Amino acid sequence: MKRVEITGVGAYLPKKVLTNADLEKMVDTSDEWIVSRTGIKQRRLAAKNELTSDMAAKAARQALASAALRPLDLGLIIVATITPDMPFPSVACILQQKLGAKNAVCFDISAACAGFVYGLVVAQQFIARGTYKNALVMGAEVLSSVTDYKDRNTCVLFGDGAGAAVLSETKTSRGIISTYLGSDGSMVDLLMLPAGGSKNPASNKTLKGRMHYIKMQGNELFKIAVRSMVEAAQKALALAGLEPEDVDCFIPHQANIRILLAVAKRLGIEEKKIYLNIERYGNMSSASTAVALSEAVKEGRIKKGDIVLLDAFGAGLVSGACVIKW
Ligand code: ACO
Repeated sequence: MKRVEITGVGAYLPKKVLTNADLEKMVDTSDEWIVSRTGIKQRRLAAKNELTSDMAAKAARQALASAALRPLDLGLIIVATITPDMPFPSVACILQQKLGAKNAVCFDISAACAGFVYGLVVAQQFIARGTYKNALVMGAEVLSSVTDYKDRNTCVLFGDGAGAAVLSETKTSRGIISTYLGSDGSMVDLLMLPAGGSKNPASNKTLKGRMHYIKMQGNELFKIAVRSMVEAAQKALALAGLEPEDVDCFIPHQANIRILLAVAKRLGIEEKKIYLNIERYGNMSSASTAVALSEAVKEGRIKKGDIVLLDAFGAGLVSGACVIKW
């Protein structure tokens, strides 16, 4: 099996900013409630005609440039998203067209907020076995297209963005050391988008019932999120033969500042090692971890040789963690 290294990262955030003050005018909420309960101050929103694949293409080009690769060098493109441009074809194929990456095999995966970590693990398998040399893994979301801006329980949480990583085989001692994925389908009802699939195709009833928007039982999810993220991180670290104190940079899915602090505390990871951007972007589902990784690298928070821990949790329910020697 070959070692697999992340050789490039990229991120794209749309220009439009939605602040807590803006939300105060839309629903019965307050900046004080949102900041104290979630840690979010603002989030980005895609422009009217800005698609998931458009944002993905911008983040992908950055990641390819930082890996010093051309689109034609890609053997695999995986896009993790719950907000594709349309139910089919896949965003990955649309992205292939936009990039001109005609040598790549392309598909999407659906693992909600853990999607980027799931994508990394899938791509790693292909590269480790020698099937492909270079892969592009993306988390890209236009969550504003499925967010109900009349529902204060959810609309304060979500934002839009895209993050990318290029994975390549490596002969160095760096790269992905261990991974862990978990799924528990017994609680699918806690977080879903009820309509638009074969169960509830679009109809007057689904539109009237606002069923094309995210429905979430946040309070129940909170405790499970903490538990699942702790478990995923512990399992990945154990597989790597590392302790929490060995982690130099902890990059959790940016769901809620209280969740992230609780996870770090239970793991025994110092607060200063957590990379946080939730204040600026909110929860961008699959894009959160991808954008955070990219920003942490660009800001110099991650240096060569550092141990990086990615940790995510989302609808499904799904969780995933990944330990990387940078
Ligand atoms: N402004 C003001 N009040 C609000 C708001 C708001 N935006 N939203 C909810 N409230 C109210 C509620 O109505 C409730 O009022 P009540 O007591 O009169 O009924 C009160 O605040 C407390 O509500 P809770 O749901 O208990 O608030 P909580 O502290 O749990 O925070 C939150 C809610 C932020 C959603 C939190 O539970 C959370 O972050 N949950 C986890 C979300 C998550 O991790 N999701 C998975 C990943 S996302 C993905 O996969 C797409």
